[in-house]
Amino acid sequence: MSEWTKSSWQNYTALQQPNWPDKDEYQKAVDRISKLPPLVFAGEIRTLKKHLADCVEGRAFLLQGGDCAEDFNNCTAPGIRETLKVILQMAVILSYAGGKPVIKVGRLAGQYAKPRSSDTENVDGVEMASYRGDMVNSPEPTGEARRPDPSRMVEGYHLAAATMNITRAFTRGGYAAMHRVHAWNNEFVKTSPLGRSYEKLARNIDQALNFMKTIGLDTDIPQLNQAAFFTSHEALLLGYEEALTRQDSITGQWYDCSAHMVWIGDRTRQLDGAHIEFLRGVRNPIGMKVGPKHDLDELRAIIEKLNPENEPGRLTLITRFGAKEIEKHLPPLVRAIKQTGYKVLWVCDPMHGNTYTAETGYKTRSFDNILQEIQSFFEIHWAEGTIPGGVHFELTGDNVTECTGGGRNIADQNLIENYQTNCDPRLNAEQSLELAFQIAEMIRG
Ligand code: PEP
Ligand code: CO
Repeated sequence: MSEWTKSSWQNYTALQQPNWPDKDEYQKAVDRISKLPPLVFAGEIRTLKKHLADCVEGRAFLLQGGDCAEDFNNCTAPGIRETLKVILQMAVILSYAGGKPVIKVGRLAGQYAKPRSSDTENVDGVEMASYRGDMVNSPEPTGEARRPDPSRMVEGYHLAAATMNITRAFTRGGYAAMHRVHAWNNEFVKTSPLGRSYEKLARNIDQALNFMKTIGLDTDIPQLNQAAFFTSHEALLLGYEEALTRQDSITGQWYDCSAHMVWIGDRTRQLDGAHIEFLRGVRNPIGMKVGPKHDLDELRAIIEKLNPENEPGRLTLITRFGAKEIEKHLPPLVRAIKQTGYKVLWVCDPMHGNTYTAETGYKTRSFDNILQEIQSFFEIHWAEGTIPGGVHFELTGDNVTECTGGGRNIADQNLIENYQTNCDPRLNAEQSLELAFQIAEMIRG
């Protein structure tokens, strides 16, 4: 294999890159970002990798979630806070049920670039570039708004920094304290339509927290008052990722300091492609999406390339087959990987294989299909003797109507009421918490 540098991906084919109209502007933007400070540090990245190694062995569980595509306009304190709040609430429920720490990773602070099935789209007879995420162009359906603009990458960097900053403040400054998060859960149990059915579990958590207080365990400790929270996004725009790739002064190794964890999408994971070339050289934990169209031999070769030392925590396989297809695809995949002895973290993305267009024209997903895929994911891993190590969601703390079903039984006709996403449909706060309680019941058996 030829030598890796942070630029060596440029000698390979990179799919899903925007067609930047002005190459000089593009170069100026990436040069600018390459001089700005990293968004995360190598030491933090190594900590997350250790946590993910624990997930591989079943000593911890990964909860990854956030927007499909972060919206520049939604980079506000309430927007970020509400999403964070839901993830923290879900983590408490899952942690209690599973009896292990939940590692929290947001799809945030850089989830600004999207792969699309087509370069262009036709809106009311007008042909225009597809929306590729706020770091590339703007979602409004006009030719001008859709023109890829490299200065958006610089803006994306600054918004990611602002998101990172408020996230660090929220999770370290007492907002994430356990008693507070649990109080929010109690509120949910009281006010949501299906909440009552989760009362017992919530009461058990109450008792556990009270017990600690009763026996005089000090609750004023970081474990209860702070939450470790990590960031992730799809490493799609390789120019942006390269610009934030820095050499760690302690180990001399290279880290993509745009986020703690980065993943490769199902559309850009070609063995000989630029994305695999770039990611093989950075030491971050890497996620890889695997959908129904995978080829087992190619996957094995990619795993060898990304994780030649078989380091646990380095590679997470995020499967996204859909409720109908998971039974067909996951068991052979699990067996093939098990046979080779690769140490991978198995995570379920129950979103991307369950997308469909409702009769009302909205792209949506049903709560029941999402839950069904998770259930099958657990059952298949239990049957195969492998470890279901985490879940990956598209969700938001806003009260959106993008996925159908859940306790309020959102129907196709309701999608219009508050459909906000620029890309894929997300679970709203209530649907996310309902899922967490249902998964909790599933893993407690
Ligand atoms: C995503 O996670 O938003 C995404 C595009 O997923 P996938 O690559 O699995 O289709
Ligand atoms: Co998506």
